[in-house]
Amino acid sequence: MSERTRILFVCLGNICRSPLAEAVFRDRARERGVADRFEVDSAGTSGYHRGAPPDRRSVQTAARRGVEVTGASRIVVEEDLATFDYVIAMDAENLSELDALHRQVEGRARLHRLREWDPEADAPDVPDPYFGGDRGFDDVHDIVERACEALLDDLLGGRA
Ligand code: 4NP
Repeated sequence: MSERTRILFVCLGNICRSPLAEAVFRDRARERGVADRFEVDSAGTSGYHRGAPPDRRSVQTAARRGVEVTGASRIVVEEDLATFDYVIAMDAENLSELDALHRQVEGRARLHRLREWDPEADAPDVPDPYFGGDRGFDDVHDIVERACEALLDDLLGGRA
């Protein structure tokens, strides 16, 4: 029963949204004393920024809220759909790419979009902040915080 739940957050570039979701989820799990129950990672559907650190704007917005965002961008691979329990997309485009990979490997991962857990969701996608201003990063952070809290509630309560 010591098996850890494996969660992969996925966006397009793996430099703005998914590294943030990975960091926020891990931070919340640590706060609740359940970090050892989860293995968390993130990836992108594109290789545009392969090997790059998270976007400075994502890092700074999170740092102001006490969350450290780290990592190096990697592309999602077929194997991820077979080895992770949950693969959680930021938007519909990510989800459709993941769905194609999932079908190729008949993966066991459950595919979701993060905002399914956002109690204040006014749209199904976490908006892509890359080409916008800093305000977009604050919005993304708010969404990710709300959704990760609720996702953790569901996972701990056996509802996800
Ligand atoms: P992310 O943001 O998918 O949240 O990491 C983006 C990063 C880079 C690009 C688009 C979105 N890009 O087009 O390079």
